[in-house]
Amino acid sequence: MEHLVSPSLLAANFANLENDIVMVNRSEADWLHLDIMDGVFVPNISIGFPVIKAVKKVAAKPLDVHLMIIEPDRYLTRFSEAGANILTVQYEACTHLNRTVTEVRNLEMKAGVALNPHTPVSLLKNILPYIDMVLIMTVNPGFGGQLFIKESYNKISELRKMIDAGGYNVLIEVDGGIDTMNAPKLIESGANVLVAGNSVFSSVDPSNTIRKLKRLI
Ligand code: DX5
Ligand code: ZN
Repeated sequence: MEHLVSPSLLAANFANLENDIVMVNRSEADWLHLDIMDGVFVPNISIGFPVIKAVKKVAAKPLDVHLMIIEPDRYLTRFSEAGANILTVQYEACTHLNRTVTEVRNLEMKAGVALNPHTPVSLLKNILPYIDMVLIMTVNPGFGGQLFIKESYNKISELRKMIDAGGYNVLIEVDGGIDTMNAPKLIESGANVLVAGNSVFSSVDPSNTIRKLKRLI
């Protein structure tokens, strides 16, 4: 299957988001990745509903919303109303994960589950039939511009085997420190969706970097 590219808006120019969203609209990107941080699950605070709604008005690509928040169940309906198309919750933040992802799907969003770098993929065994995507965090969540954790390759391969063995229709998204250098090996290991923040928005030609991530050149 052809892999997807989801540029992370966290690395965009927050004083002129429209400009960067239009760039993504016109690029070969498949989705637009939005990072929601609550200052509790991760030691950082990012954006909330008013910003997501404003982004939705300009964005032409599906919104790939990554929640780094505790108690996500409290806000699932509001993320749906704000325009999220794919909603990913952190495994570590959900006591009743099956209930959470079922509710996400009932709200007509794709359901994703994100794993912190230390969380083993084996813990996903009984949730894979109920979700559309696993997000493997390839850095500790909370900040853009961090160094890619190389152990992630093994996690992706292990998860790829679990998904294929069970015949599940589940995408593997990777997020953190991804660039045109490590992208080919990530895809080779079994990833389907590449999130990239700084490697896209800090590059000289962001649209061309998206194209390179898409075509793996
Ligand atoms: C980190 C976020 C990422 C972040 C990635 O907690 O989940 O989506 O924006 O940024 P880069 O690609 O710069 O590591
Ligand atoms: Zn993210």
